[in-house]
Amino acid sequence: MKILIFPDAATASAETARRILATLAAQPCAVLGLATGGTMKPVYEALRTALGQSPATFTSFNLDEYVGLPSTHPQSYAYYMKTHLFDAVALPGAQAHLPRGDAPDPAAEATRYEAAIAAAGGIDLQLLGLGANGHIGFNEPTSSLASRTRIKTLTHKTVTDNARYFGPDEVVPRLAITMGIGTILDSRAILLLATGAGKRDAVARMIEGSISAACPATALQLHANVTVLIDEAAAANLKLRDYYETVHPGGADEIYT
Ligand code: F6R
Repeated sequence: MKILIFPDAATASAETARRILATLAAQPCAVLGLATGGTMKPVYEALRTALGQSPATFTSFNLDEYVGLPSTHPQSYAYYMKTHLFDAVALPGAQAHLPRGDAPDPAAEATRYEAAIAAAGGIDLQLLGLGANGHIGFNEPTSSLASRTRIKTLTHKTVTDNARYFGPDEVVPRLAITMGIGTILDSRAILLLATGAGKRDAVARMIEGSISAACPATALQLHANVTVLIDEAAAANLKLRDYYETVHPGGADEIYT
């Protein structure tokens, strides 16, 4: 794992966007794996600014979607992607993939989605956020480290964390279709962005803890091409922080993938 620590969230997000843009410059038709959530908003803002209405040539597969929400629901991840990235960069609909939250048979939809990723040739660059409980995608603690795309029940903590994005009278979904940990580990390269003090425990476990389904992000230790981009607040509980900062002072890194 390459650990890059930046002074603040803005710098870490800008660097994440820059790496995605470097991938697209080298490989315009790359298959990107995309994440949603608050952490990713500045990343997509930077991509919107850099890419403009080109139209975009990449293909994307999002990590997850709430079961039961149609793509028109303002809290669906399809809607998030449309508003934060897809419309602004004119990504053709056929190149933008998310699990269908309102599919009549969610289990069959998960199987179809997994096959669609494989049919596209797999993911070149997977973007990940990190749950405060160590989840990646919606692979909650105790998810199989070999899991594939499937339905997951969200933990109470995740539902509570996500409730901030829903109105006070709205029901927060308790099920999601998510890429599995095995699906994520098949990606050729992974960028994980985590910012803020709320992520410091999960960041420390992910990087320095034992590999365990109790903290799904620890599975990333098994992948040979993972770059973790964090700010100082998220790095606060790392025991080997001095070492990471010696290797990559201020997040500096000469090699971009
Ligand atoms: C979203 C996803 C989640 C989030 C994570 C962090 O597609 O897969 O794993 O990345 O819950 O969310 P934020 O950034 O809102 O803290």
